[in-house]
Amino acid sequence: MSESYIQNLFAERIGGRNYGKSTAIYKFEKIKRAKRAAMAAHPGKEIIDLGVGEPDEMAFPEVVETLCAEARKPENRGYADNGDAVLKQAAARYLQNVCGVPGINPETEVVHSIGSKAALSILPAALINPGDYVLMTVPGYPVFGTHSRYYGGLVHNLPLTEQNHFLPDLDSVPAEVLAKAKVLVLNYPNNPTGASATPEFFARVVAFARLHKLVVIHDAAYAALVFEGKPLSFLATPGAKEVGIELHSASKSFNMTGWRCGFVVGNELLVKAYADVKDNTDSGQFLAVQHATAYGLDHPGITEQIAAKYSRRMDAIVQVLNQRGFNARKPRGSFFLYVKSPKAAMSTAGNRVEFRTAEDISQWLITEKLISTVPWDDAGAYLRFSVTFVAKDQADESRIIREIAQRLGDVKFEF
Ligand SMILES: Cc1ncc(COP(=O)(O)O)c(C=O)c1O
Repeated sequence: MSESYIQNLFAERIGGRNYGKSTAIYKFEKIKRAKRAAMAAHPGKEIIDLGVGEPDEMAFPEVVETLCAEARKPENRGYADNGDAVLKQAAARYLQNVCGVPGINPETEVVHSIGSKAALSILPAALINPGDYVLMTVPGYPVFGTHSRYYGGLVHNLPLTEQNHFLPDLDSVPAEVLAKAKVLVLNYPNNPTGASATPEFFARVVAFARLHKLVVIHDAAYAALVFEGKPLSFLATPGAKEVGIELHSASKSFNMTGWRCGFVVGNELLVKAYADVKDNTDSGQFLAVQHATAYGLDHPGITEQIAAKYSRRMDAIVQVLNQRGFNARKPRGSFFLYVKSPKAAMSTAGNRVEFRTAEDISQWLITEKLISTVPWDDAGAYLRFSVTFVAKDQADESRIIREIAQRLGDVKFEF
């Protein structure tokens, strides 16, 4: 069959006329394929999935009830556009009550998002001209960088390393990059490292942004999932509202990934620019979803229960991994445990397998142990274990943890 003329019409930003022709297999596809192969090789055996990046449970019943009640109201049926006052006001209360950030103006400093991913894909249109630099941490969630490149922007990567407690070294940015840099994107608690920021680090970020005239976008998708103390909002930093915005999301905090709702909050001018581009991009999230999200924001006890579960699972997995030779340390928040990747595994039968990369061991864990993880080789070799594996109840959760311990019981890892 001759090639469709459509093949020649694709934009260069997605590969132009070569779009879809690459044979490279990306990380997540490799994981999927290895999982399928392991299931085929061991029919009926349970795959333990520690690779998932989303909650394992449903939204809480009272949030679902709110959605149902709100969905029945005729006034909620139409285009929501940039939203009504309900979520905006709940967001301002949430910032005050949960994050200790008073004085957010719900009318001018908050606009909802159809999830943080949508906000991260909209914001570059408001900020990035060809040749502008964006400072992004790696490993990390790449959406803002991808869309910045679509607009001709350039991405400067800031590696997150263990020596720096997985905080970027702001002083490492070359002067010529800084001269053209417009935006610094941060995400704490961080995906994938699980690291948390500190008030001191955020204070340095504000000073850095002021000095170099940068916009700070803090992606706070995991901010509420903390195992001790209060969530740390970037906006709690003196001066933060003059330099940036924060992206909050119901996805992880309230087990609402599929619902697609969050909010952008902070600098009035940036929020306005986001709202203007958003208005030309989508017609807003269904008001019933927004109102159910607002209910969640007013009930932070929901997030505390979710975080307590992750904390308990984290303790158990850290213990299992450390018995096998890892040096796993429980993070202060998120649901990600990020551990140095071993160089080899030695079995009690005397078989030694070497791993060159995190991807190598991740493939080995799926194939040999039916345990799925996510490898990161971007700034050193690390494995990410998510504590969002599916378990029927707490007894089942303990059974799965024992099963992981048992599957890894005949190997010692070398670093
Ligand atoms: C760092 C980070 N930001 C944003 C998102 C997307 O969140 P949302 O579901 O609100 O679009 C994710 C989802 O995995 C994430 O890990």
